[in-house]
Amino acid sequence: MEVFIKSGSPEKQRTACVVVGVFEPRRLSPAARDIDRATDGYLTKLLRRGDLEGRQGQFLMLHNLPNILPDRVLLVGMGKERDLDDKRYRETVEALVKHLDGTGSMEAVVYFPELHVKGREIEWKVRAATESGALALYRFDQYKSKAEKPRRPLRRLTFCVPRRSDLRDGQVAVDRGLAYANGVMEARDLANQPPNVATPAYLAERAGELAKEWNLGLTVLDEKQMEEEGMGAFLAVGKGSANPPRLMAMEYQGGVKGDKPYVLVGKGISFDSGGISIKPAAAMDEMKYDMCGAAGVFGIMRTIAELQLPINVVGVAAAAENLPDGQAYRPGDILTSMSGQTIEVINTDAEGRLVLADTLTWIQRYDPRVVIDMATLTGACLVALGKNAAGLMGNNDRLVRELMDAGDETGERGWQLPLWDDYQEQLKSNFADMKNVGGREAGTITAGCFLSKFTEDYEWAHVDIAGVAWKSGDDKSATGHPVRMISQYLVERAAG
Ligand code: BES
Ligand code: MN
Ligand code: ZN
Repeated sequence: MEVFIKSGSPEKQRTACVVVGVFEPRRLSPAARDIDRATDGYLTKLLRRGDLEGRQGQFLMLHNLPNILPDRVLLVGMGKERDLDDKRYRETVEALVKHLDGTGSMEAVVYFPELHVKGREIEWKVRAATESGALALYRFDQYKSKAEKPRRPLRRLTFCVPRRSDLRDGQVAVDRGLAYANGVMEARDLANQPPNVATPAYLAERAGELAKEWNLGLTVLDEKQMEEEGMGAFLAVGKGSANPPRLMAMEYQGGVKGDKPYVLVGKGISFDSGGISIKPAAAMDEMKYDMCGAAGVFGIMRTIAELQLPINVVGVAAAAENLPDGQAYRPGDILTSMSGQTIEVINTDAEGRLVLADTLTWIQRYDPRVVIDMATLTGACLVALGKNAAGLMGNNDRLVRELMDAGDETGERGWQLPLWDDYQEQLKSNFADMKNVGGREAGTITAGCFLSKFTEDYEWAHVDIAGVAWKSGDDKSATGHPVRMISQYLVERAAG
């Protein structure tokens, strides 16, 4: 989708379609009032006749209105004006774009940034509309023999801002919104790939392409190099698969050479069967999404490279496949991690924390300013927070709060869970330094506690995206979380 910014009166737009809001009950937005005035009260008459109440999700397409330049006027119900919040605003833009795609208008001029959204300025309104608009038509159909495409698809959106002086902020917001959307689509495309395609080697190959396209440094470790590093926990997870593990690091240098980097780490289990502690069959296909953390890292790298942020960022993905096999690791095994700490395996399905543990040790070579890992780590996170928030934990409350704020700003929200010492008890092992699971209670927190044993030397936060990384059911697809949350965090850090 192409997105532009502009300012000017709706009745004077030479466009296939002008889009204006109507609030419930039957109240015209400022742009709708302009159209009404230019057409001698055409809209007022329609509303009086009861054609549109203004409820959220209502659309009314009007053709051949007198005295105005646009070919069509689309009235969009926005609900009650005082109820227009972040969520409704985003949803309405998404519904609008889906609606327009089937109307024959290949472009449209949209008067939504003028609407009052609680607590939001122009920059937010244009950015959110750009993201939602650019993502609304996302589909993953590369494996469909016959793709279904409209004959005249929507190609271009222009958002109108109220004042000429808003144009500058508006353009920044469009650029940012498009960069976020591109990062989200990168993550979705990778995560939606089937697990027979998106193997660890495939992810490494994609890292190479991304590095080339965006001028990033690249380090890839294969199994042999990981052995040399002593990554006994990471390697154990991959042993049951014919697709060997890979660790890859993409290095973006937008800041001064020598500036400590922000390091992002993503769980990249290309398929999680549970291993010897095998999972039940129901919905096991969705465990192809167990690499959504890694996919998120790829997406974020693309976004920040596109935005040319003046900071240094390293994006690392820990890729392996967790399968049962004669070579697979087993419950009872004791592993020696790269940090030297030993781990008793109680359950081979708690594999994410094992690949992350060694990766979180390995990345110390970058002397990180801050480390953020993202992972579809625990089913318990879905139980605790549902599909509406990622679980946030860390060893630095300021960092966790900054991530929570970035989540509110972008709609990819997170909520903090406590990493109190009390929970560490649950990981005590009779035979090794720790167990890899902490029992039934507080599963998300004990997973965070496990990671915290490998992150003591730097500021660190952990984002458990098990509940938010993909949607199940009829619209099964990756969401691209937490690309926007983390990109926003980095944008704010880069701004100082
Ligand atoms: N990838 C899963 C977590 C998961 C499950 C995410 C379902 C989203 C939906 C992870 O590797 C896992 O299997 N975790 C176990 C941990 C347990 C063995 C302590 C879990 O959540 O059951
Ligand atoms: Mn698992
Ligand atoms: Zn997993």
